[in-house]
Amino acid sequence: MKKFVVANFKMNTTLTEFGAYLDEFLPRVKDCKSNIILCIPATHFHVANQRLSATSIKFGAQNISSEESGAHTGEISSLMVKDCGAFCTLVGHSEVRKKFKESFETINQKIIRALAVNLKVILCIGETKYERINKKTQQVLRRQLEVALKGLYENELKNVIIAYEPIWAIGSGKTPSVKDVEIAANDIRNIIADNFTSRSAEKINILYGGSINENNCSVFSKIRGINGLLVGGACLNPKSFANICK
Ligand code: 13P
Repeated sequence: MKKFVVANFKMNTTLTEFGAYLDEFLPRVKDCKSNIILCIPATHFHVANQRLSATSIKFGAQNISSEESGAHTGEISSLMVKDCGAFCTLVGHSEVRKKFKESFETINQKIIRALAVNLKVILCIGETKYERINKKTQQVLRRQLEVALKGLYENELKNVIIAYEPIWAIGSGKTPSVKDVEIAANDIRNIIADNFTSRSAEKINILYGGSINENNCSVFSKIRGINGLLVGGACLNPKSFANICK
């Protein structure tokens, strides 16, 4: 099955730089078989829509509002994102959770908003270093998933991808062991099975994210139960990211 390779640009690139990025990146992945998704700043949606529409590459947002519309200065709604041609949105990235003190209840609202307008969701979950040292990873993943996915219908799960991103691995150059990622993916499927069905648990796509680069990407993408990668820093270099996609 095709693997996902998702870029999280975070708050990087001007529109001009993004145009130059696509000039370099698109020819390199012309024949690439992966499912490539670029999660970019909202300021780039318009250009992404124009330049990617003739390709198989999709783009997404990095966050959305938990509200539908109205007096929420600075926020962008799921409908606005969808209307720009986006395929998906990241939800619950640990940087958003930390900076905006976002709870998993809020993340649940965001997921419901996204699914209501047919925007797919990449839900980010993961433990802190402290939680890992204290052997709380499984418990943390369970709570994050159960709150975030509360109230969803079974058939909505096909529009949700889970990204397992241990917080301590993000931007640190450190990664968990292959075994630890395999255990986390297995735990995630068990939690989905407990709350929905084992069929959904088998089918759900799980990504790994955290300090992925050109050298380690093939090891992490081949881990049992892992369906692709979520890439931060290394996605900003179009040549490196194209190699990761390939
Ligand atoms: P890095 O690849 O820079 O560790 O970032 C991962 C990430 O946060 C992707 O969402």
